Amino acid sequence: MNDLIEQKIREIYSFQEVISNPTCYLYDLNDIKDKIRNIEKNAPSNLSVYYAMKANPNPEILKYIKKFNFVRGIEIASLGELEKAKKVYNASDIIFTGPGKTYKELGEAIVNNIKLINCESIVEAYRINQIAFEKNIKVDILLRINTDYFIDGADEHMAGCSTKMGIDEKEFVKIYQEILNYGNLNIKGIHVFSASGVLEYTYLIKYVKYVFDLVKRLEYAGFNIEIIDFGGGIGIDYTKRNRKFDITSYFAELNELIDIYKFRSKELILELGKYIVGECGYYTTKIIDIKNNKGHRHIITAGGVNHMRLPIATDRKHPVYIIHNNEPHICKYQESVKNDLVDIEGPLCMDEDKISWDEKVEYADIGDVVVLTQSGAYCYTASTLWFLSHEMPKEFILNEKGEIYEA
Ligand SMILES: Cc1ncc(COP(=O)(O)O)c(C=O)c1O
Repeated sequence: MNDLIEQKIREIYSFQEVISNPTCYLYDLNDIKDKIRNIEKNAPSNLSVYYAMKANPNPEILKYIKKFNFVRGIEIASLGELEKAKKVYNASDIIFTGPGKTYKELGEAIVNNIKLINCESIVEAYRINQIAFEKNIKVDILLRINTDYFIDGADEHMAGCSTKMGIDEKEFVKIYQEILNYGNLNIKGIHVFSASGVLEYTYLIKYVKYVFDLVKRLEYAGFNIEIIDFGGGIGIDYTKRNRKFDITSYFAELNELIDIYKFRSKELILELGKYIVGECGYYTTKIIDIKNNKGHRHIITAGGVNHMRLPIATDRKHPVYIIHNNEPHICKYQESVKNDLVDIEGPLCMDEDKISWDEKVEYADIGDVVVLTQSGAYCYTASTLWFLSHEMPKEFILNEKGEIYEA
């Protein structure tokens, strides 16, 4: 965490509404800009990048990303996301992915004439076809495959093992043949998102080769593949080592593969979430109490997994920083942390309410602010926000001019 961010967090904690509810997120738009520029600089000519809004649907972030013409559009996963996306993006820039889409969701997507629906099963293809038939239109779809390839070094696997995503590769040709009979669908290609949070680019390159070989086989069998959607997958480092995904080498090798396989005329899609917004976010919460209980130190903060569930949900800690406020002690036996191993826990009455654990903290006092970096993706909206009916954390934006505002 740099000095500017610390200064901005201090500023936020002087606002009245944050003093009374001392928990908030800060999103730095400058970091999002750096990430998008980095992708743009290196991207192959036939690559379209979409923002996976499930990572962070904050409206200011959606609006900001929209300013970059390079980002082709937005990927949604529900009717709620469609409504939010439509406020900022044209329907023709929206693609819809995810298992279990209802008739209502599919119907709305079709009526709005979005760019693509990524179809997760034969039943879903049937439903889309039925709705399209009733409306007498054709709908562009990609068929999602749960490929047989297991990507190493990922935080989470969507394919390469038994999951609810996509159509099993072993069944794929048979199902593809059947769906070709559905007269109101245009099958434009395949969706092969397999794993999220991959920091080592060579693991993704190996997967690209696997998919390109699969596409060659499908084309040889007579299927038409114009679009290959790789979904998300580029990871960020959740440790203070601050390693970076080598996007330059990734795109350089991807470019070579595109030429080797003669795939330049195909559209390749990435639906990126974590890479674009993961590092822009800071979860911050004030220390309310400090205890020593049965030989272990506990820092108790105003917000816990109700605001920041990702670390406990993934069993992976985020980098922790403490901003000192030097508030006067409020009573005689008040404890401070001095070079202790601590658990950092929220106000919920359950032991799993930890935002960090076994964390070595040099110094911390009641009134200081705990900051968890790498909190821009899958944090705010993936938390148990309503549990115990605490107030919601506020969300603040740091813009390009260095101004902060609530969003
Ligand atoms: C269909 C789909 N696309 C894109 C993403 C974004 O993935 P990431 O955050 O790894 O970039 C996800 C995340 O779960 C997803 O389910």
